[in-house]
Amino acid sequence: MAKNLLSIQDLSKNEILDLITFSNNFIDNEGNFRKEDLFPDKTVANVFCEPSTRTKSSFAIAAGNLGCSVLDFNIDNSSIQKGESIFETVDALNLMGVDLCVLRHPESVIQELAVSLPKMVFINAGEGSISHPTQALLDMKTIIDHKKSLDGLKIVIVGDLDHSRVTSSFVEGISNFPIESLTFSGHPEMCTNYQSPKIGNYEPDLEKALKDADVVMTLRIQYERFQEELNLDLDTYKESYQLSSEKLENAKGDAIIMHPGPVNYVEITEAVYDSENSVIRQQIANGVAIRMAVLSQFLSG
Ligand code: CP
Repeated sequence: MAKNLLSIQDLSKNEILDLITFSNNFIDNEGNFRKEDLFPDKTVANVFCEPSTRTKSSFAIAAGNLGCSVLDFNIDNSSIQKGESIFETVDALNLMGVDLCVLRHPESVIQELAVSLPKMVFINAGEGSISHPTQALLDMKTIIDHKKSLDGLKIVIVGDLDHSRVTSSFVEGISNFPIESLTFSGHPEMCTNYQSPKIGNYEPDLEKALKDADVVMTLRIQYERFQEELNLDLDTYKESYQLSSEKLENAKGDAIIMHPGPVNYVEITEAVYDSENSVIRQQIANGVAIRMAVLSQFLSG
């Protein structure tokens, strides 16, 4: 296994499956997370230079459950506000004895940090629009929990794909498996990179895209990543691309509905979010188990 988890491509198909299986050990029969004092001598720093609820909190909970010391680094009160770079910041944490850095950053800095600080382990918790490997792992775990396997599935991803690091890491991860089909859907101006994809196909008509789907992943519009102000009529957008109960009738009756969060209820109705097909809240819980498995694996070197 690689020393750092910078991309889902750092993991082989077997390593992905092993991490998902391993993560199941951290959930007991009642669905609670096990607390095991496995790494009392390790310090994990959570360095988030973009907002986060799920990823940051689940890494902190996972590290705490494993007996690590957890440094919840707050960028707003840090010397980054006085002009210090992310490189000097993480180097300072390294010199203070941090063993593993969980990093979310809007730019691609994690590869250079990993090279310049070889004693530290780096886990990518979100790199701009580029990658989010632990999200891909928890997404694949959630699918396996419900569908037993990733093989042979019809998967649809709909929403603002161009800005979605969730999509790019998921596509890299799922490309290891013999799925039946992968269909991208969404507003053409938000799917410019997916109209002639390397794997899968683009279908702008969501109802057609959903035909017989086993898995439907919905994504919010990432307003914060648009370079120019988005000139969009939300009612028109919802008519075409919001996942509603009516549109969902095109998918298989037991299709699972996913969303990495946060949810805005533009891309999905509240009724679909709350429906029995929705596994969105399970994705959040699976984030803790997957991050316990990832931290255990990468702290063990
Ligand atoms: N899915 C995800 O990365 O959510 P947060 O931004 O809340 O961490």
